[in-house]
Amino acid sequence: MFDIQEIRSQFPILDQEVNGKPLVYLDNAATSQKPNSVLEVWNQYYTEINANVHRGIHTLSQLATEEMELSRRKIQKFINAKHDFEVIFTKGTTEGLNLIAYILTGKLKKDDEIIISYLEHHSNIVPWQLLCERTGAKLRVIPIDDNGILQLDYLDQYLSEKTKVVAVNQVSNALGIVNPIEEIISRTRRNSDAYIVIDGAQSAPHFRIDVQAMDCDFFVFSGHKMYAPMGTGILYGKEHILDSLPPFHGGGEMIATCSFDGTTYAGLPFKYEAGTPNVGGNIALGAAVDFIEKVGHENLQRHENALLEYAQRQLLEIEGLKVYGEKARRTGVVSFNLEGVGISSDVGMILDKMGVAVRTGHHCTQPIMDFFNIAGTVRASFAVYNTFQEIDLLVEGVKKAKRMLS
Ligand code: ALA
Repeated sequence: MFDIQEIRSQFPILDQEVNGKPLVYLDNAATSQKPNSVLEVWNQYYTEINANVHRGIHTLSQLATEEMELSRRKIQKFINAKHDFEVIFTKGTTEGLNLIAYILTGKLKKDDEIIISYLEHHSNIVPWQLLCERTGAKLRVIPIDDNGILQLDYLDQYLSEKTKVVAVNQVSNALGIVNPIEEIISRTRRNSDAYIVIDGAQSAPHFRIDVQAMDCDFFVFSGHKMYAPMGTGILYGKEHILDSLPPFHGGGEMIATCSFDGTTYAGLPFKYEAGTPNVGGNIALGAAVDFIEKVGHENLQRHENALLEYAQRQLLEIEGLKVYGEKARRTGVVSFNLEGVGISSDVGMILDKMGVAVRTGHHCTQPIMDFFNIAGTVRASFAVYNTFQEIDLLVEGVKKAKRMLS
């Protein structure tokens, strides 16, 4: 049973007015709101448990360690990793991608190649550019067509013995396009030995993830976009790959032995978790996984897809409104502009006055904006607690913006 009012009642932040209007929160691709169950776990950690993990013999430290490791196992199950130690806590997708690009440094040399796509967020572009600067490797970019769909023929052309990394997102944050990850991975495996990195920041909140079936080498995502606190995230890596690569940060927790003559490293996952982790956040991420499992992936997807279809249908009835990636398979996001309205933030400001929160601008994807020859878009993005009435308010707001701005 999917009871939207019951779900909304679990999110206290939604029950408020913004600019004198009921809040309509449609900026979920930037960050999602948090249910009571997550807030309570977070609060309980700081009011009853707060202690450092893996270090203390005392009761609270052991309790904190048990809770965090329990959360790791929940996340292992959530993404179907083979082992819990393949699940590394990070502070988000950006850190995960930078971590991977850094630890791969020794595996690349001059003129090797890294393949990404036009649809990447800056966080899946810049770490690879930095890796190119360190190693002399080159970046190759899979282009898109006018519907924002990846042109996979180019992937086939680019793949060679020079290809060392293929890094793509599963869902585009700017357009919501669902990329054919399975196809990209199987073509890559057929034609190269490249490491395959999947940015799951915009897919983990919406889809069931199975990293073993996917057969990627790395999968990264953020907690805060899937109902968990900010500053939480996950890097999944295959055991033999993580074992074969060097650490990222040096410090406490990641060593087996340390002396002035040299250091040996701890096993997984601790080798990649130097320093005090975000214990409360990591435990709360486990509670967010529980929340999603309780709603059920099928319910969640059915509801979000229905919202997306409804929003797109209504918006396209507005004359002069263009949806980017309209003909592509999408999830969770509708990204659009009004003809004759040059600045997407003007639309965003009018919507905000009506209590409707959307993101405007380039969405950290300037190459996509350049491709469409625009400065930005208005992006409405959905979560499980959004309603059809909220979409009506969005559409009403966009119509008002059109009247005022064109
Ligand atoms: N990456 C986030 C977004 O797309 C912040 O809005």
